[in-house]
Formats: sequence, structure tokens, C-alpha cells
Amino acid sequence: THARSLHGPPSAFPERLAFAFDIDGVLKQGHHVLPQAVRVMSLLSGRTGPFQQPIPFLCITNGGGVPEAERLELLSRDFGIKLSTDQLVQSHTPLRDYVHDYAEKPVLIIGGGGDAGRRIAESYGLKRAYLLQDIVAWRSAIWDRYHLSPAEESFVKRDVDFSNTQIEAIFVVNDDGLDWGLASQVITELLMSDQGRLGTSSQGTPKHIPLVFTNPDVIWGSDYPLPRLGMGAFRIALEAIYKTLTGRDLEYTQFGKPHATTYRFAEAMLRRHLSSLGRDPESPLNVYMVGDNPESDIAGANGHGWDSILVKTGVFKGGEPTHKPTRIAEHVEEGVTWAISREL
Ligand code: G3P
Ligand code: MG
Repeated sequence: THARSLHGPPSAFPERLAFAFDIDGVLKQGHHVLPQAVRVMSLLSGRTGPFQQPIPFLCITNGGGVPEAERLELLSRDFGIKLSTDQLVQSHTPLRDYVHDYAEKPVLIIGGGGDAGRRIAESYGLKRAYLLQDIVAWRSAIWDRYHLSPAEESFVKRDVDFSNTQIEAIFVVNDDGLDWGLASQVITELLMSDQGRLGTSSQGTPKHIPLVFTNPDVIWGSDYPLPRLGMGAFRIALEAIYKTLTGRDLEYTQFGKPHATTYRFAEAMLRRHLSSLGRDPESPLNVYMVGDNPESDIAGANGHGWDSILVKTGVFKGGEPTHKPTRIAEHVEEGVTWAISREL
């Protein structure tokens, strides 16, 4: 395609273009917002640059840990534009369509700072969502290395007898505030328990309790100069512990990039967003995924049939990526500029 300048005739508009932005390592580095990201958001929202209308985009992250509504407020403030509810897919957002059967059932939610895990679960309609802190409040001896903070004392539920409560599913939604020891102890105990009741052990083969992870990232890009261990690393540790204790392989369901369920969920959301912009949600789109992690962002985009732009501001720093992107760019602004020129 002949690349043309961004400053084409005012009527030129990339009709088919849409973006999916990874967050950590692309738009942000830890709490630091990349200045390129702010300029990109201003351009795509039509506030600056040659376009009279917005170029559709959403954010799709293996991060999370707070309800979508709360994260959208924080990101809107970070980027200086108002993001709508159909512009954010967090690692656990697809759970919204997955958990209907558990609405009235006791489930364990792991991750998210403080009681954010419960707020996430309740925002998805789960009425009996318990936290690891509730279990420590019930019997601290379950993992006597963990001590509830005053803040945790203020939100734990104390009216639950977990030896008589059948936990029906375990959702690991984020690794913010995740105590790997406490989580490993409680998850393995539940998976070996009699009917999901803590303090018990099954005789023979225990009842299957679904275990769901929402982020497969073994490493991710923060504001530290080297990649950090993510929820995928916790899962690997848990797999080794469970295998050693039981001789069986850990069974689990995995959401998050690069898995197809997350990309299909994101595509459906992007088309709802098109509709909210007054455009035909079925119109043909050329979606460009901008990511920093070849294993999650590039592999997932390529697998879903999107174009992919790999930036050097996160996990990937250069060299031959493990998954081949459509384009490698220094940062998000260079990648977006290239994609727009390609689509004009
Ligand atoms: O915990 C967040 C990390 O796993 C990666 O997040 O935004 O790069 O998909 P993101
Ligand atoms: Mg990233």
C-alpha cells in the first residue's frame, strides 16, 4: 500500500481502521503514562490531528484487579479522554459472560487489591463471592503466616463457616496483592477437599471444582527495567505443588491474551463501540493490535486475524520476536502513525 502523509486532504479518513491497545508496556509503564500514549489518544479521539471523527479503538489488557467502571475512570484520567464502557477488556472482563451459573453459589475470588476481588465478582452478578481474607478471618491457622491488616479486618465477612460451605468454583482474577503461599495452600486444599468444604479431605477422587485463571502472562513489562513475573508464573508454581501433592496434573481454564476467547470477546466489544459511534457494527475492519509482549499480544492478534504492531517499551526490547508482527515500532505513537498512513 502506498504510504501517504498523515496530513492528507481533510476528507481522507481511514474508514476501515481500528486499534486494540495493550496497556502495560504500551500505554503505561507501571503507574507512568507514556507521553506518546496521551498524544495518540488525542489524535484518535479527533481532538488533535486531521480527522473530523474518532478512529475506533479499545484497550485489551491481561491486567485488571478492579471493576471495569473503576479502571475506566482511572484510564480516562491517565489519557485525558473519556473512555466508554465498550473500550476496555481486562483479563477478567470475559468472565462476565461465563459466571451466570454461579450467581447464587459460593465461589472463591482471588486477586485484586483489598476487597476489589469481591467488587469485581459482584459487578458480574456473583452474590456469594468470598476472598482469601474471609477464609483467614474464619481460621487464621489455615495459613498462619498471613496476618489481616486493619483495612482487611474492616471488610472481611465473619459470618461464614467454610467447613460447611461448598465452594463451587475458584476464579483467580488478578495478581495484585496475591499472596502466593496463602493462595496455593487454599486452592490445593479445596481441590483435595470433600465437596469444596475447607478443613476436610476427600476419600479418593475429590469432586471437580472449576479453577479459572484470567491472565497467562509468565512475565510482563512494568516500570522496572526488566520484565516481572505475572499470574502465569503463579500458575506454574501451583501446577508443581499440586502435582507433587496429588500425582495429578492441575486442571484449569485459562482466559486472557493470547487465547481466542479474549480476542473474540474484544472483537464483539469493538463492534459494539462502532455502533456507539454511529457506524455500522458489521462494517469491514482492519484492526491493529499494539502490544509489547510477543507471547500474548502478537500471538493473539495474529491468531485472531488482526494486524499486529510490536513496540519496544515493554517486554520486547529488540531482536527476533518469538511471534512475527506486521510491524515493529519504537513506541505506540510511531506504530499508530504508520498504521494510519498505511490505511489512508
Ligand atoms: O498484570 C498485567 C500484566 O500481566 C500485563 O498486562 O496490559 O501488558 O496485558 P498487559
Ligand atoms: Mg503489555
